[in-house]
Amino acid sequence: EGGRLTGLRGQILTFKADPFLNNEEKCYDYFNDGLVIIQDGHIVDVGNYPEIAPKYPQLGQGDIDTYEDSLIMPGFIDCHVHYVQSPMIGSFGDTLLNWLNQYTFPTESKFKDKKFADEVAREFFKQLLEQGTTTANVFATTFETSVDAFFEESERYDTRMISGKVLQDRNLPDSLKDPDTDQSIVIAEKLLKKWHHRGRQLYAIIPRFAPTSTPRQLQLAGELYQRYIDQGVYMHTHLDEVQSEIDWVTQLFPDQPNYTEVYRHFGLVDKRSIMAHCCIVREEEWQTLHKCDCGVAHCPSSNLFLGDGEFKYWEAKEPSRPVRTGMGTDVGGGTNFSIPRQLNEAYKVAMLQMKNLDAVKSFYLATRGGAEALHLENTIGSIAPGYEADIAVLDLKPSEFATWRLKFSNTIFEKLFVLMTLGLNNFNKATYVAGRKVYDRNRDKKWMYA
Ligand code: GUN
Ligand code: ZN
Repeated sequence: EGGRLTGLRGQILTFKADPFLNNEEKCYDYFNDGLVIIQDGHIVDVGNYPEIAPKYPQLGQGDIDTYEDSLIMPGFIDCHVHYVQSPMIGSFGDTLLNWLNQYTFPTESKFKDKKFADEVAREFFKQLLEQGTTTANVFATTFETSVDAFFEESERYDTRMISGKVLQDRNLPDSLKDPDTDQSIVIAEKLLKKWHHRGRQLYAIIPRFAPTSTPRQLQLAGELYQRYIDQGVYMHTHLDEVQSEIDWVTQLFPDQPNYTEVYRHFGLVDKRSIMAHCCIVREEEWQTLHKCDCGVAHCPSSNLFLGDGEFKYWEAKEPSRPVRTGMGTDVGGGTNFSIPRQLNEAYKVAMLQMKNLDAVKSFYLATRGGAEALHLENTIGSIAPGYEADIAVLDLKPSEFATWRLKFSNTIFEKLFVLMTLGLNNFNKATYVAGRKVYDRNRDKKWMYA
């Protein structure tokens, strides 16, 4: 019954609970010689090779990809990224609002051109899959073309992705602005109907942030979200990134007591609302984010690059009112596509505030934590029966020096900490999406569809 069985053999690490809230040892499974069994894009079994293999006599040696000196993990999850900013990644930052005006808005204006959007989408997927990221929560931009280009490329790889049209009708150049507020919502709904639950694609309603939408656009966006929320549609935006932005929001919405309330007033704060950054958050706001079951994306590379501020994970994960939290690259504010390199930065952001972040918590945030933030923790982010088979294969001998260095580390978490701290750019060997290998570092043609 069902399709062909395949297997992945190697060391395996997967998370099953939140190490910020539970004893760390109870939060993961690690198999030194493990086997994952995959069928029809889903994981059907996982465990120690000697126990699992005999249960599947129909599985021949040719059906198993064996990885030596490697760690098989759930694919990484990027909870906040702008694919449309790939062409301007690494542009001089200065401050968020200057950087948006100088580099971001002109670049995003070019996505009216479908050919340009197609080219960027193609490159973006290559970068994500090369880094072992298999799901992302993605900003497109104003134009329909930018949404279609993204989902079309995602459909080719069959990745589970979340994206949508960005709603923005004030305080930005005419070339990027929604020319008609009511029409912007009509277009968003049309794209939602076209892409939501088409294959593995999921739709998000995306007001860029409160300063670039009129109150009417926020109102209509909230109404659209509420109409579709029970069908699993998302709301994705920026929140509490930097003080100058918060001050601007206070000026624009003087009747609201805080930034979160601005969004909540318009019906935008609810389950499956994903808020990026959250660096400067008041206690009342954390309480609202908890109560409404929102997700937040910690984007340390971007926050450091733009001088925004520092995410406080101990506030987000306060045990009396924990908030679903994952990692985001926020490319092009972030300066690379690698989730492990975000962990490297997250550790330093914590250290600057007299805290730390160990490898158990870090790699949880990179996988299951991200899935929880996106309310997909029963679908992706773990290697367990019933989950979608999105998998990264990390190289535990990624360079001559790292191989030598790792001789002096013992446990898998000691090794992972060293690897994330060295910040290597190529330590993902292979990426599987829905059980199919779509990226292989050692192949001539590395990407399945590039
Ligand atoms: N706030 C509003 N737009 C943006 C953006 O494109 N990047 C970042 N980092 N913050 C934003
Ligand atoms: Zn962003």
